[in-house]
Amino acid sequence: MAMKRVAVSAFQALSSSSPSSSSLTRHLHASAGSKKIVGVFYKANDYAKLNPNFVGCAEGALGIRDWLESQGHQYIVTDDKEGPGCELEKHIHDLEVLITTPFHPAYVTAERIKRAKNLKLVLTAGIGSDHVDLNAAAAAGLTVAEVTGSNTVSVAEDELMRILILVRNFIPGHHQVINGDWNVAGIAYRAYDLEGKTVGTVGAGRIGKLLLQRLKPFNCNLLYHDRLKMEPELEKEIGAKFEEDLDAMLPKCDIVVINMPLTDKTRGMFDKEKIAKCKKGVLFVNNARGAIMDTQAVVDACSSGHIAGYSGDVWYPQPAPKDHPWRYMPNQAMTPHISGTTIDAQLRYADGVKDMLNRYFKGEDFPAQNYIVKEGELASQYR
Ligand SMILES: NC(=O)c1ccc[n+]([C@@H]2O[C@H](COP(=O)([O-])OP(=O)(O)OC[C@H]3O[C@@H](n4cnc5c(N)ncnc54)[C@H](O)[C@@H]3O)[C@@H](O)[C@H]2O)c1
Repeated sequence: MAMKRVAVSAFQALSSSSPSSSSLTRHLHASAGSKKIVGVFYKANDYAKLNPNFVGCAEGALGIRDWLESQGHQYIVTDDKEGPGCELEKHIHDLEVLITTPFHPAYVTAERIKRAKNLKLVLTAGIGSDHVDLNAAAAAGLTVAEVTGSNTVSVAEDELMRILILVRNFIPGHHQVINGDWNVAGIAYRAYDLEGKTVGTVGAGRIGKLLLQRLKPFNCNLLYHDRLKMEPELEKEIGAKFEEDLDAMLPKCDIVVINMPLTDKTRGMFDKEKIAKCKKGVLFVNNARGAIMDTQAVVDACSSGHIAGYSGDVWYPQPAPKDHPWRYMPNQAMTPHISGTTIDAQLRYADGVKDMLNRYFKGEDFPAQNYIVKEGELASQYR
């Protein structure tokens, strides 16, 4: 409520023409004229030229440079996002729009927001805006929006792949081939079929639901835990059972998949105690966010074998430092953050960003589902 008051008072101040109004907050829509827009994306170097549709990298710049510059806007794109002397910092004081991506997130801290006096709009090229201090953004009157749905398919497909990779004990077999070995027993002693196993998703929103739908033909037992129960018809169609109590669901699962956002409620949710509630030998897939897990608890459980396999593409922080313990723990099938940045996904989220910028320039609203922070309020699942 306090946040709402900030926004409401800001609106009142803006609509009055008192001299104090300009100092109060940031306009939620664009004013006329040239704007400074900064994009922070991962650098592709030599890979940039290998595919004309590779728009998600810094070199590709979402394919909107010509469009923005033809309208007189300044568009600065960089991958240099950390430390006091980084390129992003050079523009913090006067940028109006910041576009970044979960794959190479510019961390928009409260401290940065304070110094970004001209910042009005933060766009996420992808899904998941936890790299932004959302409470600070709301209090400062910023709008935060993402391209909801843009990589749902990409992530659900990737999760299905990771489930199969873990269940079949694929990675050690692949390593054998590279290392010149041949040891069928070393793989087969713990390779299983997916059929008949119990898979539980923690979070059954867009990605979670699609994963359940993709899993249905594998004849698994499907469970889901979420803040919200699905409509009975959809639940029946998907064939998944709702588990209101997460602690009751976990011991039933052979495979747990995390599909909820990183929020104040989910940060560190999977700690030592939560993991202990899972079956010994459980497999985990987490493409949601690294910080939902307690880093060391995952390492310990993978080392003891309580977690028999952990796969995902999300870490904290990103890029993951060279000494991040998940790089070295046993029983892992980790990758860099890649699942939601297929070329198909890039084209979708680039389109979505362009659409929102276009609306912003015209003073129009975005599609409702894209808002994470609007008028001082956080989207419901982030509250
Ligand atoms: N690895 C990637 O490339 C990638 C790409 C896209 C999204 N993601 C991550 O996946 C997350 C989910 O994406 P989505 O599109 O399915 O989002 P979504 O908003 O459609 O679904 C999220 C679901 O989580 C549930 N939820 C939220 N808080 C919860 C809580 N405390 N307990 C139980 N359930 C809770 C919500 O009710 C909702 O059903 C994103 O927030 C993002 O962090 C990762």
